[in-house]
Amino acid sequence: MYILLMGPPGAGKGTQAEKLIDAYKIPHISTGDMFRAAVSQGTELGKEAKKYMDAGGLVPDVVTIGIVREGLAKPECAKGFILDGFPRTQEQAVALDGILKDLGIKLTGVVNIEVPDKDLVDRVTGRRICKKCGATYHITFNPPKVEGICDKCGGDLYQRDDDKAETVKNRLAAYHSQTEPLISYYKKQGIYINIDGTQPIDKVYSAVKSSLDSRK
Ligand code: AP5
Ligand code: MG
Ligand code: ZN
Repeated sequence: MYILLMGPPGAGKGTQAEKLIDAYKIPHISTGDMFRAAVSQGTELGKEAKKYMDAGGLVPDVVTIGIVREGLAKPECAKGFILDGFPRTQEQAVALDGILKDLGIKLTGVVNIEVPDKDLVDRVTGRRICKKCGATYHITFNPPKVEGICDKCGGDLYQRDDDKAETVKNRLAAYHSQTEPLISYYKKQGIYINIDGTQPIDKVYSAVKSSLDSRK
């Protein structure tokens, strides 16, 4: 299974990826998670990425393409992967085609989780993430059993720096201008799957899983 997960900020890419990696036992490659790890480790990559992330803009293509090329070349990705949040620009999509061609890999499906803007601000501002294991919650739509504590590992929950309402607006604008046009790019390749992301988390998961299973 070689899967791309697309969709606007807060659509549920990370939430669905958590379930899919359990089902398919393949690695999750999230460029957003990689940048956040670099920021918390204080590396040069993290310092560079933070400038763009804090403003709700995109990290430059040359940087992003480099880390994905490195990630996909790892042996654990040979049998499958879930790429979450990449590509986000036409240049990244073209670069990805080249990387996959070099590796002899054909994508199983490009899953786009569609959610209207009006729902996304609430989703993003109500999101909470576990510091220890990275599990994602929502204060209303998917609350933990005990407020502020992860159900899975007991870790503390935190809010992402870029999950403020003002930053979310910029992230949505970047999505519509730079990433949404990739839908037609993948429709032309015949591997595009559209999913109604306004349904409850489990319904979205069943829809994603069954459409991917039918393409195995
Ligand atoms: P990234 O981390 O990828 O952020 P994003 O694309 O904005 O997406 P999110 O992680 O915010 O949302 P998600 O779709 O994963 O939703 P989630 O499952 O958490 O990127 C961050 C930044 O890094 C970018 O802004 C950019 O600066 C940089 N970057 C990353 N990749 C890049 C690239 N390729 N090029 C350049 N720059 C890049 O769910 C959200 C909330 O909703 C949660 O609380 C969840 O519990 C809840 N929820 C999920 N599903 C449902 C549902 N069905 N119903 C109700 N609630 C739901
Ligand atoms: Mg995410
Ligand atoms: Zn946890």
